[in-house]
Amino acid sequence: VRNLYLVRHGETYYNVEGRIGGDSDLTLRGQAQAKELAAYFAGTEVPYIFTSTRKRSAQTAAPMREARPEATVMALPEFDEIDAGECESLRYDDIRRRFPDAFAARQRDKFHYVYPGGEGYVTLRERVERGVRRALFLAGGAPGVMIIGHQAINRMILSHFLYRRTEDVPYIFIPQTQFYHIVATQRKKLFELVRFM
Ligand code: G3H
Repeated sequence: VRNLYLVRHGETYYNVEGRIGGDSDLTLRGQAQAKELAAYFAGTEVPYIFTSTRKRSAQTAAPMREARPEATVMALPEFDEIDAGECESLRYDDIRRRFPDAFAARQRDKFHYVYPGGEGYVTLRERVERGVRRALFLAGGAPGVMIIGHQAINRMILSHFLYRRTEDVPYIFIPQTQFYHIVATQRKKLFELVRFM
């Protein structure tokens, strides 16, 4: 693989409401972002597109898939968003009120914090790395691979390719209208944040 395009799903109803987790659909704005993404990549070779099993990820891939029927599009559960356990579908404000200790603990050490009944960045690493290995294996020598993931997942993937101190990983910027282009050469890896709309 020479080019890895790391994309976050488009805007969802949960994003607008400030809720975490869940399996929400893309809003109209999110659908427009997905179309712009496909338009941006029109002339680019991307024979492999990996999504998570969540609707927002598959819906973001839909225009890409339509534009290139020959591409392999595959959903990997390893790329599903961090499981927030008992905090799934809540707003950060709700979490602060209902689980003040948990909220404070997460603020103190976001990387090592594990949601009750769910995951944390620290426990996510193993499955995300497994997903990356699986995706790169499936894609073989393909010139371009796209992963349409989620905020926490994409932070983890970036930190797999680019060194980041663990305490900084949960704060890496993962926008919805820009993607990370990671270029792997034999000697080094370069990355660039690219706006597509
Ligand atoms: O829970 C889903 C979020 O996308 C992860 O964001 O780790 O900054 O709370 P956070």
